[in-house]
Amino acid sequence: MDKHFYISTPIYYVNDVPHIGHAYTTLACDVLARYKRARGFDVCFLTGTDEHGQKVETAAKANGETPLELADRVVKRFQSVWEKLNISHTDFIRTTQERHKLAVTEQFRKIEAAGDIYLGYYEDWYCTPCETFWTETQLLDGTCPDCGRPTSKLKEESYFFRMSKYQDQLIQHIEENPDFIQPKSRRNEILSFVKEGLRDLSISRTSFSWGIPAPGNEKHVIYVWFDALTNYISALGYPDDKDGLYKKFWPADAHVIGKDILRFHAVYWPTFLMAAGLPLPKKVFAHGWWTVEGQKMSKSLRNVVEPNMLIDTYGVDAIRYFLLREVPFGLDGDFSHSSLISRINSDLANDLGNLLSRSTAMLGKYFGGVLPQPGAADDVDSAFTARFPKAVKLLDKQYSDMAFNKALQTIWELISSGNKYIDETAPWALAKDEGQQERLATVMYNLLEAQRLIALLVAPFMPDTASKMLETLGCDKDDVSLEGRDAWGGLQAGTEISKAQPLFPRIEAE
Ligand code: ME8
Ligand code: MG
Repeated sequence: MDKHFYISTPIYYVNDVPHIGHAYTTLACDVLARYKRARGFDVCFLTGTDEHGQKVETAAKANGETPLELADRVVKRFQSVWEKLNISHTDFIRTTQERHKLAVTEQFRKIEAAGDIYLGYYEDWYCTPCETFWTETQLLDGTCPDCGRPTSKLKEESYFFRMSKYQDQLIQHIEENPDFIQPKSRRNEILSFVKEGLRDLSISRTSFSWGIPAPGNEKHVIYVWFDALTNYISALGYPDDKDGLYKKFWPADAHVIGKDILRFHAVYWPTFLMAAGLPLPKKVFAHGWWTVEGQKMSKSLRNVVEPNMLIDTYGVDAIRYFLLREVPFGLDGDFSHSSLISRINSDLANDLGNLLSRSTAMLGKYFGGVLPQPGAADDVDSAFTARFPKAVKLLDKQYSDMAFNKALQTIWELISSGNKYIDETAPWALAKDEGQQERLATVMYNLLEAQRLIALLVAPFMPDTASKMLETLGCDKDDVSLEGRDAWGGLQAGTEISKAQPLFPRIEAE
């Protein structure tokens, strides 16, 4: 089996600062990257910033900076927020880097040499915030059909990509690979869009200069989406591939994006790749959109939720948990402080935190904090322990479907069953009966071993919490690998386990 895994986030525009929308995509990729590592995969996890284009040029001008000064400043904000969110990316690409410019230039040349780029005239409507061209008929009352903002008419000399030529090939690819575009509803949207007909695509501009020059014609800068999409291979060292990363990781296993940029990833990018004779990514997953307290997040509404502030208030793992637990990946969601607080109190403080503090406290009281040898299992024990291998198997499927909220439900069913197991076995009653020592030992062993497994299973979602749990359980707090360690019985009798500090303090809502 191929044990390589390549996952990417979009590269974010530097004219905006990081908010929970960006955090969401990056977090989902991080969870999958961590899971795959735990399963022994060699993982390439790419994120980065999109620094060219008119939008960035305009924002810089408004700030009295050069575009590169703006980019250098904002890129630090992305990098520091990813560090704070415990994002485990293996590379961070900036489109202003030399390695990227080289790849874009080469990609342009290659497609041109194949006869799929030609020089012509462009006359159409352009939405700068979306960096998208629209035809007259696509406009809604003269405004951008995506964002509703004004568009402007542009007529300029432009290079065109023969996208129309790839219409049938793309339709065929989408139909033959049902998992290529996910979720399914999005796939159907793209399929009908492509079936309506693909036009050739303008892929250069002459009206501004902040971008990568078209090879052999410096008057033109390459269209920002042609530039940006190439990041997925430029980061791998394409075209030289000196380190063999392209060979090892391309095609990507998954490009994870928001639904706003699906067309670029599911139509433009695949046809560029076809023209360049390169394989297509295996999957493009478009997740849904976050609103905040029922409203669209926007600078002008001043309701942008910044991850920094959330992490400082609630802690990093609470945020990681909430964002992926609250909404099925693929659907839209609404962020509110009250739902975040209720998740923290019920799922984290009550269910997960209490299980660990109750059981470590009982171990201290009944066995002086030393894990006993378990005795024979009865029906209640077997029913409890049998849940674990089933959950481990189910989780693997849920991860490959990117069903993060279901994966968390699966883990939380184990946690609830742990709490229920305590109620059913009533260790406090067993402790009063000399003759029940062995029974009590079995119960305590099972409870703590269950939490070793739970710690490993939550680790991709909540790495800090997993470390704390493992440390409490006397395990190596940094070893979260699942290979060979996901079977029942890993904890050794005789291990010293002290009473756990609360993992998540309850939050009193204001
Ligand atoms: O589009 N809800 O960059 P961008 C959910 N540079 N996700 C959200 C979100 C929200 N409210 N807001 C943003 C670009 N996102 C291009 C990408 S890729 C080759 C080039 C997330 O800074 C989501 O992943 O506008 C969305 O697709 C992305 O940020 C857009 O980031
Ligand atoms: Mg955007």
